[in-house]
Amino acid sequence: MKEKLNSLMHEVQNEIEETISLEILENLRIKYLGRKEGIFTQLLKQMGNLPPQERPETGKLINEIKDKVTQLLEEKGTILKSRDVIQEKIDITLPGILPELGNLHPLTKTLKEIVDIFVRLGFQVAEGPEIELSYYNFDALNIPSHHPARDMHDTFYVSKDVILRTHTSPVQIRVMERQKPPLRIIVPGRVYRRDADISHSPMFHQVEGLLVDEQTTFSDLKGVLSTFIHLIFGSETNVRFRPSFFPFTEPSAEVDIACVLCAGKGCGVCKYSGWLEILGAGMVDPEVFKMVNYDSTKYTGFAFGLGVERIAMLKYGINNIRLFFENDMRFLEQF
Ligand code: DAH
Repeated sequence: MKEKLNSLMHEVQNEIEETISLEILENLRIKYLGRKEGIFTQLLKQMGNLPPQERPETGKLINEIKDKVTQLLEEKGTILKSRDVIQEKIDITLPGILPELGNLHPLTKTLKEIVDIFVRLGFQVAEGPEIELSYYNFDALNIPSHHPARDMHDTFYVSKDVILRTHTSPVQIRVMERQKPPLRIIVPGRVYRRDADISHSPMFHQVEGLLVDEQTTFSDLKGVLSTFIHLIFGSETNVRFRPSFFPFTEPSAEVDIACVLCAGKGCGVCKYSGWLEILGAGMVDPEVFKMVNYDSTKYTGFAFGLGVERIAMLKYGINNIRLFFENDMRFLEQF
């Protein structure tokens, strides 16, 4: 009898351990402890068949095992219940918290788009220093020291001859000094001017372009820039080349597009002219070629310079240049 009880105890223990739900546990409780059919109830009933002297000891043993089983069932019940509670709290069908995704800054995006277009047109990317000699920024570009164009640039001086470049044009000179034609480059980069309002920032970005070859004409300039504008602003955009002046190009032009807001009708953004100026350009002045020892009887070229912030503002309808540099997530997240 003793042995039978011990192996029963093992059996019960195993069964309880393997139980995975409260429902199965309740079935086990009925199987062993049920008042009518329960195995322990049956065992106690069968005590009458035992010789009288064995009854007290066996009865005691049965009750001990019964108590132990009761305890095991309770413990397992507590574990299974707490598991159910956890499962209720974690709703695995909820979408969860997504990690925040980064994206490119609107200026980086615009710059990349501009560069990609010119690369497709066969231009190579060149770069130059932001701290520049005034020789490259001015003199070599046919802007001598007494020239009024210098005042227009609101230059930051490091020393008498060293400045923060006011445009990307000096890179034209640096490239032509070390390379012979034919030449087809674009120069993206930062430039600096002492100027700050809603459309001017002391640091901003330009992209310079330069093409030098034999028989390059103003028509080539018009073709390249029109193609660029149509790719950036859409093929329907009207383009206008307006006579202008730059010391390093002759003839010079400023290029306008029909106002992106009113489509040429006239509004506050285009100051009721219907046009928006977006870049400066022209045929490279022979004086500039002279500075880099290019033979201007053999070679001609065109150059252009555009402001990246200005293009991004028009493209995305941004009315304050400072938004680009404040790092406000509410603004940056929109691109
Ligand atoms: N460097 C001029 C500026 O910053 C822009 C410019 C005009 C660049 C005409 C050129 C050009 O290369 O041909 O205002």
